Amino acid sequence: MTSKIIDGNLLSKQIRTEVAKRAAALTAQGRQPGLAVILVGDSQASQVYVRNKIKSCEENGIHSVFEKYDASMTEAELLSRVHALNHDPKIHGILVQLPLPAHIDSHKVIEAIAAEKDVDGFHVSNAGLLMTGQPLFRPCTPYGVMKMLESIDYPVRGAHAVVVGASNIVGKPQAMLLLQAGATVTICNSKTRDLGHHTRDADILVVATGKRNIVTGDMIKPGAVVIDVGMNRDDAGKLCGDVDYAGACEVAGWVTPVPGGVGPMTITMLLVNTLEAAERS
Ligand code: GUN
Repeated sequence: MTSKIIDGNLLSKQIRTEVAKRAAALTAQGRQPGLAVILVGDSQASQVYVRNKIKSCEENGIHSVFEKYDASMTEAELLSRVHALNHDPKIHGILVQLPLPAHIDSHKVIEAIAAEKDVDGFHVSNAGLLMTGQPLFRPCTPYGVMKMLESIDYPVRGAHAVVVGASNIVGKPQAMLLLQAGATVTICNSKTRDLGHHTRDADILVVATGKRNIVTGDMIKPGAVVIDVGMNRDDAGKLCGDVDYAGACEVAGWVTPVPGGVGPMTITMLLVNTLEAAERS
């Protein structure tokens, strides 16, 4: 079998066109959507992600503010910036790029963001709303994955979805969204025994571990949809996911490439969440 590709760039383009239209309508009313992005420290990877987020805002008519701070910034200083942005009427979404330096309690910082500006959907009240089926903001990466499944008309209801990875950013909210869409969900983590036993039974396989090649072709059910959330570098320094792409392409029905799969969708759904925050404000 040769898999079909779910093209995250193409789907993003379609959704972003709609976002830009709605953003322009708000701007015409003097209510341009605004996103603030805070980065603390000098992680190269985070800088690339954040730059892409800002650039995508600019390209789609969303006002953006980028605040970059030295790794020595104190927790109190960061909390004070978040409080100021909570009260800034031009800002509808606040994103604090994770991970934060070890001396800052990321839970405390996330809880300081006004829930109605928490476009990442990480605040406990947003996590609770998601869990109880009344989401205000769906976390961007899992939301993008759901849009990818929707784009291929995949019948999620009744399917067995296996999520590999149980982070607050991807794995846990992903499992919740799939469950609410009617899937039977298995969540695997770094301690799961015989991972392949679970993944081989997946109709939908979402892999978000940050470990290159954790899923190989022999661990995939023929015809399955394989969604690769990983963002790693191979030995030659080339971007790659968590799934052995060549192996997956021989077995899966659908696969997402890295780059050009989930990555652009994460940013697209951030734009959607920021737009909706502004529309609600
Ligand atoms: N770090 C990795 N992914 C994300 C994300 O979606 N949001 C934030 N704030 N930080 C991240």
